[in-house]
Amino acid sequence: MSSALAPQLRLDREARSRLTGHRSAVVWLTGLSGAGKSTLADRLEQCLHARGLHTYLLDGDLLRGGLNADLGFGAADRAENVRRVGEVARLMADAGLIVIVALISPFQLDRQAVRERFAPGEFFEVHVDVPLAIAESRDPKGLYRRARAGLLKDFTGIDSPYEPPASPELYLPTATLSPDEAAAAVFEHLRAAGLFSG
Ligand SMILES: Nc1ncnc2c1ncn2[C@@H]1O[C@H](COP(=O)(O)OP(=O)(O)OP(=O)(O)O)[C@@H](O)[C@H]1O
Ligand SMILES: [Mg+2]
Repeated sequence: MSSALAPQLRLDREARSRLTGHRSAVVWLTGLSGAGKSTLADRLEQCLHARGLHTYLLDGDLLRGGLNADLGFGAADRAENVRRVGEVARLMADAGLIVIVALISPFQLDRQAVRERFAPGEFFEVHVDVPLAIAESRDPKGLYRRARAGLLKDFTGIDSPYEPPASPELYLPTATLSPDEAAAAVFEHLRAAGLFSG
């Protein structure tokens, strides 16, 4: 007997995509603290949302207040932080969303492990790059000042390394690109990749 609840009728990615009118994906913004990830993520999400696309923004700072409140900044906890955010992003992409992740995610191996959880063409790694000196001069949260004073340990760029992506889908130098220019570059890249039309 056929039933609306039969397992073979479970909604798949294609069915959700037909409903939203666009493909799902993860846009993974990686870079130093102060590089401009959250600023770009916010502009990009506004831009996508205004065009009727279904989005969600996962910002590392906010997640550390909840989902990842138990994690610190040592290498093992950073790896777990990235893994968890990657898994949440995967579920959200599975649900049909364009997920924007703003997370320092300093280690190449951790980012690679997340990439491997996605099908080809679903994971867009974006290196939001800025020279350390400029990030440090922005310092809106006073984190570099505290790290230099020895009050913050394992701070990326100061006493913990940042490993730049070897071949990101996009490279955005925010010393020369404004937030709006950076958001427009990502938007165009996603459109050119066929995520949505128009
Ligand atoms: N493209 C840009 N050009 C100039 N300044 C920028 C640009 N993007 C962001 N900024 C400024 O740099 C500062 C840091 O930006 P933002 O908070 O987005 O960095 P972040 O990468 O999210 O840092 P964190 O990892 O600490 O959250 C802010 O004061 C912001 O206004
Ligand atoms: Mg941020």
